[in-house]
Amino acid sequence: MDSAAASDASVAEVNNRNLYIVLISVHGLIRGHNLELGRDADTGGQTKYVVDLARSLAQHPAVQRVDLLTRQVRDARVDSDYAVPLEPLTTDAYIVRIPCGPNRYLRKEALWPYLDSFADNALQHIRRVGRIPDLIHGHYADAGYAAAGLAALLGVPLAFTGHSLGRVKRERLLEKGLTETTIEKRYNITRRIEAEEVALDNASFVVASTRQEVEEQYSLYDRYQPKRMVVIPPGVNLEHFRPPSRTDAPPPFKAELDRFLHTASKPMILALSRPDERKNIPTLVKAYGENPQLRKLANLVIVAGNRDDVAGMDKGARKVFTNLLRLTDLYDLYGSVALPKRHEPADVPELYRLAARSGGVFVNPALTEPFGLTLIEAAASGLPVVATQDGGPRDIVRYCNNGVLIDPLDAEAMSQVLLDALSDKTVWRRWSRNGVRGAHRHFSWQGHVETYVKTLCKTVRPRKRARTVVRSTSRLPTADRLIVCDVDNTLLGDSDSLHELVALLQDTDSNVGVGIATGRRLASVLKVLKKYNVPTPDVYITAVGTEIHYAGRLVEDMGWRRHTEYHWHPHALREAMKGFAGLRPQPAEEQRAHKISYFVDPRKAPGVREIKRHLRRLNLQARIVYSHQAYLDLLPVRASKGLALRFLSHKWGLSLQHFLVAGDSGNDEEMLTGNTLGVVVGNYGPELSHLRGAPRIYFSERSYAGGIIEGIEHYDFLGDIRIPADEIPEHEPALGA
Ligand code: GLC
Ligand code: MG
Repeated sequence: MDSAAASDASVAEVNNRNLYIVLISVHGLIRGHNLELGRDADTGGQTKYVVDLARSLAQHPAVQRVDLLTRQVRDARVDSDYAVPLEPLTTDAYIVRIPCGPNRYLRKEALWPYLDSFADNALQHIRRVGRIPDLIHGHYADAGYAAAGLAALLGVPLAFTGHSLGRVKRERLLEKGLTETTIEKRYNITRRIEAEEVALDNASFVVASTRQEVEEQYSLYDRYQPKRMVVIPPGVNLEHFRPPSRTDAPPPFKAELDRFLHTASKPMILALSRPDERKNIPTLVKAYGENPQLRKLANLVIVAGNRDDVAGMDKGARKVFTNLLRLTDLYDLYGSVALPKRHEPADVPELYRLAARSGGVFVNPALTEPFGLTLIEAAASGLPVVATQDGGPRDIVRYCNNGVLIDPLDAEAMSQVLLDALSDKTVWRRWSRNGVRGAHRHFSWQGHVETYVKTLCKTVRPRKRARTVVRSTSRLPTADRLIVCDVDNTLLGDSDSLHELVALLQDTDSNVGVGIATGRRLASVLKVLKKYNVPTPDVYITAVGTEIHYAGRLVEDMGWRRHTEYHWHPHALREAMKGFAGLRPQPAEEQRAHKISYFVDPRKAPGVREIKRHLRRLNLQARIVYSHQAYLDLLPVRASKGLALRFLSHKWGLSLQHFLVAGDSGNDEEMLTGNTLGVVVGNYGPELSHLRGAPRIYFSERSYAGGIIEGIEHYDFLGDIRIPADEIPEHEPALGA
């Protein structure tokens, strides 16, 4: 067959699609104009990348709509733009700001407790759009985690881009001499790595910028799957970045530099990055300061974000600047180092051109650089580069042949390389020319988006719509709130308070639905509810969330069953678990299509982490639920009591804030966290104690059904529903009520 014709056909097929793509990038300050790049550690290259990606994707003929979901920030310290719920980028692309935890601006390390709620609130946006996306793409660990949750909930493919990776960062910081505890405290690194594992586990494809990033960085992960990795070099908006021409008038920014520099005409060594420790700028100052020849030959220009008072910056940035100012003074670099206080995004292309015109070089001495957007911008501006021997720079210098790679920790070698690069004019001119050509050839947005959409279309198959038949006897279609109770040791356990609860609920209107969520199978729930005279609930979530049935004829929700089937290999899982001591299979009737259950001897059994790792190594996926130090359940990754609730919420258009959930043990945890109103009854198991202080989780004094009653009162759930302001103090551990 004619291969050109075949590829034409597939191009047509791709272009016929009307894709709806949801990108998620949670942290930092994102808007469509005047990005405040470098304002803080969270507003850098990734921010720009996702906005450009959203715009460029929307221009592709196969794409109908792109939503870039980010966190909504209502905070007097930042611009009010970041509070606007919907900001159009083009006619087909939007920034959508999703409420997530407190209103105020939070650094990314503090966002972890709120990400489940981000996913829940994002679901509401999807409902408003009225269309299920074809792809959800999470950027960085935090959004990867939220996106994985959302994709699982909606049953759509997930894509992930790490941007930078926790395992790599931890290694580098350890090399630099930071202790595990400091790294943990400052960066919440374990949480981040776990989130990356979750995202990698669930992603249909992972977009990396470079080959090396795949081979050396993603490969450090348990869930690394080479087949799912695609390398798509980042695109650059090259229209703004061009080499200088003789007719260019000196840009306004030149005056700012002239304030610092004694002989401004010397070649410029330019560094441009956020004032982040990882960017390693002090080593560059050291390299420059300790080499008299270099100091004589060139000026050093460091543009590291905007600042007013160094003392008022966040801790990392303050450290970097204190260091830079100290080194400038130590080596007495007055007159040859420029550290401008502010710059506008529009100054950046001018800055590269100024440097190129001076015969200078661009330096990126970062400890790790997965991306290196600035290097491509420099290349397109005809400015040769000296860059760290890592991820992005490797590919860029390989594609463009426009500079040299360096060891970021070796200041002496760095200064020699800079000296050489600035001294040989023939080589300089070649690098300058190569950079311009290479940047256009290899790093345009159009090319980026084409590869992206092709990858997506290979992954996305037309989905079968799930349908549900529901008996009219279930109150779900009319209810405006739902009480969901675990059975054993929550609803049941004390008959007096159970009677009290039943009486209370019988007195209420039909707008209050009641559901059961339990580890038991349906037949056994029905039996025990009958035994204790509990009126029929509207919905049954059974077998630890793997099955949903509705009141009346007990119709099973087959949509849920199909949705959870994903990556479920029960035989292989049973085999894989055989080697562990301390685990005894539960009786046959407890083994369900989507649930494998064991009794646990806690003295002999392995920890959940160990089991997880073991399964990952075997390339098996399962959700592991440990309850009462006595039971262990393996479920499909897309099933849990919590996900079942979210499925119901989405399906029935009932906001999660109108779900009161009550439980006592580990298999209840996921329905307690996030946007639901949680109640932990007084007789709870120790595995839930870490939830104390978490947003929207109430710990009752009373036990069993009495605890549920107390929770109903706490939230005024049968009245106006009181939703507590959810906020965890940023630095306090979530302990103690
Ligand atoms: C119930 C189920 C059991 C499960 C346990 C914990 O007791 O019967 O199979 O392991 O809940 O979820
Ligand atoms: Mg229980």
